[in-house]
Amino acid sequence: MSESVTAANLTAKYPDVNYEPLDTDMYWREDHYLKEKDKIFKQAWHCLGRVEELPKIGSFFLRKIPTFNLTILVVRSSETTIKTFLNACAHRGNDLELLPCGKRRAFTCKFHAWQYSLDGQLIKVTDEEGFPQLDKSKIKLHEFKSDLWEGFIFVNLSTHPADSLVDYMGQQGADLAGYPFHLGQTKFQFSGVIDTNWKFLVDSFCETYHVPFLHRKTINGTMAGPQNIHGRAVDIRLKGDHRTTSVWGNRQYQPKTVQALAFQNTPGISITSAGDDSIELPKGLNETRSPNWSIDVCVFFPGLVCVIGAGMYFTHQMWPLGAGKTQWDMTGYLRPAANAAERFGQEHAIAELRDAVLEDANTLERMQRNVSTGFLDKFYFHDHELSLRYQHHTVKKHLGQL
Ligand code: FES
Ligand SMILES: [Fe+2]
Repeated sequence: MSESVTAANLTAKYPDVNYEPLDTDMYWREDHYLKEKDKIFKQAWHCLGRVEELPKIGSFFLRKIPTFNLTILVVRSSETTIKTFLNACAHRGNDLELLPCGKRRAFTCKFHAWQYSLDGQLIKVTDEEGFPQLDKSKIKLHEFKSDLWEGFIFVNLSTHPADSLVDYMGQQGADLAGYPFHLGQTKFQFSGVIDTNWKFLVDSFCETYHVPFLHRKTINGTMAGPQNIHGRAVDIRLKGDHRTTSVWGNRQYQPKTVQALAFQNTPGISITSAGDDSIELPKGLNETRSPNWSIDVCVFFPGLVCVIGAGMYFTHQMWPLGAGKTQWDMTGYLRPAANAAERFGQEHAIAELRDAVLEDANTLERMQRNVSTGFLDKFYFHDHELSLRYQHHTVKKHLGQL
């Protein structure tokens, strides 16, 4: 077999990780979830979108943070500045902006028409004489801390974030710098609410042990196959709170007829068409430089999963809504198609990805229902399910339970 990693090598590579069977109560206990919400999600940096979505001064979009039931107004207030505000008018709390995206010179509330500049300052109060003690200059929209990483806009809901964004992204962020994220300007999105714990959703994208079985009719031939019958990973790397799984790709795969047509013009954009060698990868992608690499699954703890290949990337964002309920937002980024043949290849890639992730989603509600009975008290992770095991470790560390 041409894998560089064989089963049990990772156990040796990271001897400090707990390799015992692990408790399952963090997947279903409501009190555990409330601690995660407060100590993990409230403190984390959350990705809101890309700078390309704000091309001009005054461009804006709204982004919900479902876990905290709030909406953020993301605005380009100058050539070089992007601001993130709570989308709520300071007068009496109405939603300030109602459109999902657009461009404005100022934001005017539809209730009593108070108006705010692009940098959140209150600039106009209707019938101002009726507010004899009001000092407009002291009133602003509630602004959150925000920052950019490689063109991604991040926000932090904490008044005093424990880490800067660059520190939060850490070594894994540094090792991915330079990837041409900005070229992925054709977006596609899937979204849904699933009756499952957010960690089950993250888990399902972080191991390929299931590929020969759950995906036997879709991606089994490309991410597992005769040379890798167990779907073993190429490599897994733990970096601070984050981790990357390098997924094996079958370079000998013979595509089916329609796949072959799609791959012809769009090599490397499908999860089943690994093999685009046309770009130089940053250090952190396929770090072992395996010839049998297809994609990297990079988890930024807690709930952002970036799946990156040579020709495309997509993100999963998990927003917990309760111990057993999660909103799942998936956003894909492709380079704009140059012609109809490329567009066809892209649509084919999107359909293949949709089918595979629906298979991944298929198990989630069953697992949640079963674990919530309380009768399954331990889980047993394979050597190549290290990323899942490490999620346990990281959650416990943040909750002070190690
Ligand atoms: S709530 Fe916005 S102007 Fe009154
Ligand atoms: Fe899968």
